[in-house]
Amino acid sequence: MQTRVLTGITTTGTPHLGNYVGAIRPAVEASRRADVDAFYFMADYHALIKSDDAARIERSRLEIAATWLAAGLDPQRVTFYRQSDIPEIPELTWFLTCVAAKGMLNRAHAYKAAVDRNTETGEDADAGITAGLYMYPVLMAADILAFDAHKVPVGRDQIQHIEMARDLGQRFNHIHGREFFVLPEALIEEQVATLPGLDGRKMSKSYDNTIPLFAGGKKQLRETIMRIVTDSRLPGEPKDPESASLFTIFRAFANETETAAFRQALLDGLGWGDAKQVLYERVEADVAPMRERYEAFMTDPAAIEAILQQGAQKARAIATPKLAALRDALGLRSASTSATSAASPKTVTKQDKMPRFASFRDADGNFRFRLFSAEGEELLLSIPFADPKAAGTLQKRLKTLGAAGAVLQIQPQGMTLDLDGKQVASTPDYRDEQSRDEALGQLRQALDQLAAQD
Ligand code: TRP
Repeated sequence: MQTRVLTGITTTGTPHLGNYVGAIRPAVEASRRADVDAFYFMADYHALIKSDDAARIERSRLEIAATWLAAGLDPQRVTFYRQSDIPEIPELTWFLTCVAAKGMLNRAHAYKAAVDRNTETGEDADAGITAGLYMYPVLMAADILAFDAHKVPVGRDQIQHIEMARDLGQRFNHIHGREFFVLPEALIEEQVATLPGLDGRKMSKSYDNTIPLFAGGKKQLRETIMRIVTDSRLPGEPKDPESASLFTIFRAFANETETAAFRQALLDGLGWGDAKQVLYERVEADVAPMRERYEAFMTDPAAIEAILQQGAQKARAIATPKLAALRDALGLRSASTSATSAASPKTVTKQDKMPRFASFRDADGNFRFRLFSAEGEELLLSIPFADPKAAGTLQKRLKTLGAAGAVLQIQPQGMTLDLDGKQVASTPDYRDEQSRDEALGQLRQALDQLAAQD
């Protein structure tokens, strides 16, 4: 089976060498593996949370798409799309919003940091904080859950978001009684290189120490590399490769033989100026063919658009039926096919959704199960069994019982089901007799559906 690997690319800023080595190159490599079904998209709805500069958003989306394609992403293999081309994502965001605990969102790192900053400066706690920032994790959960992704490659700072996506998926599954969503796992690439920037700190836009990947062409690349900070050792003096940023950057592009040769040259006293030239030539050897493809794409935005539209189509082929099933489960159905419509007693066909059992072990280690209606309402909870086979036998009997065969003891708040004179299951407690009677109707319908199917 293929593992579905999904990741969102933020569309702010212009890609630099650190992005290429740390994210783009490994993701493109992973997408070529036979056991991976890759979904990569531009998180442009997330970008709106951070920026209201339309021109910048537009430019960044284009640059980033062109960069990934130039870096070798194959849109035939990978589902490559823009978040904003998938209307199912905001729709799912709302469904998840309605099961999201507000308290969980209060604890999200980015939101909490913003509140802490306000508190420190004596402002109102929520001053200047948009609901967009607050809802960021829910939108991200929808990105992931809409496609049943198994693995989500992200940086460490995103682990909490993946945990929230799991939490939201799990809650929804639980409330609606079915495994609607695959629960995703974060994939943290421990050995992925983080490149040092010009000043030796991690290369990052926020430190203003980046080396651009394509912007400014090879001239800019060379000039920026020449600005990498070094110690003051003179040509002829031995250099310490391990403490030199330019050696770390070199290693991220070179093979072992090249790396060994460069290390030796530094130990032998290669001057920093010459070392930078060697580094520039090595990086340029990898970047030049990609830059050529990048520039071709940037002069042909229509080609990018066509690729992204195809990607959106592939993505929606999955998300559209998924959202249709969710709408149905939530009761957002066409009035003419409503399950509660009195006019047409439902004939059970194979395609109809069926009631289902869900088995579990309780806190004492005993085997129990629940019966859910086709709509996902909990109908019955079995008594505990020490032997899982006994629980299985009871399930089998319930499948063939039918409403007519069920002995139900009706109490004011609920019901119990007896078999062979012994209580074997009970319903949840209902708040009043009317809800209990509705549940009774559902239970009888479910037992009939099960018996008709067998
Ligand atoms: N929040 C992610 C980041 O800042 C980007 C992102 C948006 C994402 N949606 C996603 C990553 C879904 C993985 C899966 O890097």
